[in-house]
Amino acid sequence: AMEQEAEIVQELGSLHGVPLYKSFIEGWPRVKAFQARPDDVLISTYPKSGTTWLSEIMDMIYHDGDVEKCRRDAIYNRVPFLELKAPGEMSGIEQLESTPSPRLVKTHLPVQLLPTSFWEKDCKIIYMARNPKDVAISYYYFHRMAKIHQDPGTKAEFLENFMAGKVPYGSWYDHVRGWWEKKQEKQLLYLFYEDMKKDPRQEVQKILQFLGKELAEGIVDRILHHTSFQEMKKNPAANYETMLPILMDHSVSPFLRKGVSGDWKNHFTVAQNERFDQHYQKLMAGSDLHFQMEV
Ligand code: A3P
Repeated sequence: AMEQEAEIVQELGSLHGVPLYKSFIEGWPRVKAFQARPDDVLISTYPKSGTTWLSEIMDMIYHDGDVEKCRRDAIYNRVPFLELKAPGEMSGIEQLESTPSPRLVKTHLPVQLLPTSFWEKDCKIIYMARNPKDVAISYYYFHRMAKIHQDPGTKAEFLENFMAGKVPYGSWYDHVRGWWEKKQEKQLLYLFYEDMKKDPRQEVQKILQFLGKELAEGIVDRILHHTSFQEMKKNPAANYETMLPILMDHSVSPFLRKGVSGDWKNHFTVAQNERFDQHYQKLMAGSDLHFQMEV
């Protein structure tokens, strides 16, 4: 059991300066060489920004709101995770190779590390961003429940590491800014978790328009219902409860934890919040990218 656990926890290495799980770095050559197909659609996020939510919405759109079809497998198999590589598991690349087109692909890679094939094939990309305070808290609980991570320490310690970019996938600030700038030149729909919370119908309409797809009002209603936090939380195909308990411990913190905007207020001290705001202003200076810290 010790050996198994030792394999599950992954130290962080550096992938071109970006902190990443060592097993993912080992798999990098095949990820870099990945051949995208023109009809692949990429779902790109910094971790804990609503990846699973957007993935479920996209799969529902692809299946015209057919709930049963979207229960065919767990979300992490329906939307393979490009750079996933862990001992004894099928890699994201292997999963993608056996997925029929049109494929949905999940990644957390920062924009400068995306395999070039996605740009060459001019694939559609949907990026979802979430305010960093909620991301940091969500990431802290995820570190504790997902056993690939080393002990995140106290919340205060984790917050420092998050601000310094010393967490898997590195700096949140670089990630959201990098993808935001790419929007100038590429087929990229940039969405916000907070907008999705406020008006999911409007955001789903944006996605449909981006995909060039039309769906009847009733089907959109069904998608919105099926992808609500309450529905996803009790759906074994969406809530990650089918993952091996040695990989994720939902008793520490469920994968679908709270699903709100502004939960950071229950966790940040006044001093932490002031420090975070100052740091945020410094790192986001000069950008026209703005976040709603609550809705
Ligand atoms: P919390 O930890 O704040 O609850 P990711 O899928 O990128 O790992 O993001 C996980 C976060 O998205 C978690 O945030 C999770 O609860 C939230 N989430 C997942 N499905 C959601 C939904 N349908 N509505 C709102 N939030 C959702």
